[in-house]
Amino acid sequence: MIVYDKVEQLRLQIKQWRENGDTIAFVPTMGNLHAGHLSLVEIAKIKATRVVVSIYVNPLQFSPGEDFESYPRTLGADLNQLEALGVDLVFTPDNSVIYPEGEQRSAFVDVPVLSHIIEGEFRPDFFKGVATVVLKLFNMVQPDIAVFGEKDFQQLLIIKQLVQDFNLPITIVGGETKREADGLAMSSRNNYLSASERDESKVLAETLQIFRNHIEQEISIKQAESSCIETLENHGFLVDYVTLRETSNLDLVSDVQAVSNRSEDKNEMIILAAAKIGQTRLIDNLKFTI
Ligand code: PAJ
Repeated sequence: MIVYDKVEQLRLQIKQWRENGDTIAFVPTMGNLHAGHLSLVEIAKIKATRVVVSIYVNPLQFSPGEDFESYPRTLGADLNQLEALGVDLVFTPDNSVIYPEGEQRSAFVDVPVLSHIIEGEFRPDFFKGVATVVLKLFNMVQPDIAVFGEKDFQQLLIIKQLVQDFNLPITIVGGETKREADGLAMSSRNNYLSASERDESKVLAETLQIFRNHIEQEISIKQAESSCIETLENHGFLVDYVTLRETSNLDLVSDVQAVSNRSEDKNEMIILAAAKIGQTRLIDNLKFTI
């Protein structure tokens, strides 16, 4: 497995692979890899002949006061896992490669509307940071395919929009959320949880299921929302949002039947949630149909 930290090396290798007729699938990550990340690598392996993974903790997507400094960095263990999976190349740039003039002086991209709702209301510059670094990484790697997790569903939609709006010749593929045995969505941030917080954290995924059951039982959206928020609060969560949206564009669902009649999609609705337990902010989502 090749490990490069310079764009020139990366470009030369990609060029050689292309001349040999290879196709390239790309999985961008911030490292501290878990089975969720690895499942995206498995998808990448099926979709192309060469797999490139990037590991880069992107300062532009962290606000002051967030966990940029403490974000877990486990490069050695990450590389071992990727090598065992048969990844061809890992790109590990540092800040001087990604933001030569510093991230505050970098040109940026902003995907309107989608970046500023839901998660974007609580983390105003987050998706600007994500979209910018992903566009830069796409330009560096120039993949045919890139794989993103549905765990970060809003991020996945924003990347699809970015690719469409800038006419990038890249197919974006979504991978389903990998979970712990008790339902907690895998995340690098789960490492921050104390034993008791870890135990309570399963309630987030359970609450999404309860929300869906409420909607199936024709309980009003407002009531479903407030009863789920109450459940989470009773388990010690500080809730940012629990919200029912249309899967295709994250528009608010105000009439379940109307959406259900209009759409042929099997997963036309999605419940998105974010809540803090102790110092740790968790997000999750559940797609479903009526
Ligand atoms: P990171 O949080 O490291 O996640 C990298 C990829 O793994 C993302 O596409 C994310 O959605 C996916 N992922 C995380 N947890 C998952 C799970 N439990 N199951 C399936 N996939 C999961 O997301 C980022 O990094 C960054 O924002 C990035 C896109 C790399 C830009 O910096």
